[in-house]
Amino acid sequence: MPLNLLNNPPHLPLIFPSILGADFTRIADEVTDVLAAGADALHVDVMDGHFVPNLTMGPDMVRCLRKAFPDTYLDVHLMVTHPESFITPFADAGANCLTFHIEATANRDQHNEHDLTAQIRAADCQVGISINPPTPADAIAHLLNDVDVILVMSVHPGFAGQSFMPEVLDKVRWLKPQLNPTTRLQIDGGLDTQTTPRALQAGADTIVAASAIFKPNNRKAAIHSLRSL
Ligand code: DX5
Ligand code: ZN
Repeated sequence: MPLNLLNNPPHLPLIFPSILGADFTRIADEVTDVLAAGADALHVDVMDGHFVPNLTMGPDMVRCLRKAFPDTYLDVHLMVTHPESFITPFADAGANCLTFHIEATANRDQHNEHDLTAQIRAADCQVGISINPPTPADAIAHLLNDVDVILVMSVHPGFAGQSFMPEVLDKVRWLKPQLNPTTRLQIDGGLDTQTTPRALQAGADTIVAASAIFKPNNRKAAIHSLRSL
């Protein structure tokens, strides 16, 4: 299991296909294909129909992926209102990293972001914190040394296939110099061959993509082109 993938990456940028872009009737074949094509991990988009206006997948998907792909790093993006309820289920299912949203936890007395990072570590997972496009980067300034990955959303979360929002790159530029070299700066939403170079230039080092990887028939070429832009 590549437990150290985020802190000690074999190369940068890392490319994480979001399985939300896969054909769900052929999920094992789709995952096999992107892993053979050079994906560094799988990004699993969990939506609760409340934090975002869509429903996707839960711990059972992670359990099945873990069983079928025992050596693959599973990066779980929790777009849910109550992330505290899902730490144990996803950790037990075999997730490697759990990323929750600051919009879900800020200003809470209980189950706030400090409680969650501690709970996730206690469950033996790596920790990510995410910010939506309207949220300023300084909303997570107090967490920069407490997480393994920062996820800057470059679309309003909820659906694959949306257009990249270039204005979030200012947040990437602000965050990058404050991070230590073992912390990854991930960007998610609308990343393709046009937008990825801009994200990389701003300082992102981990690219999440659904459409740009799963739509093309040649996934190897798709991943290669994202990686070497
Ligand atoms: C959006 C999800 C993304 C999404 C990306 O809410 O968090 O991971 O799957 O899809 P594309 O790459 O198509 O924008
Ligand atoms: Zn995502």
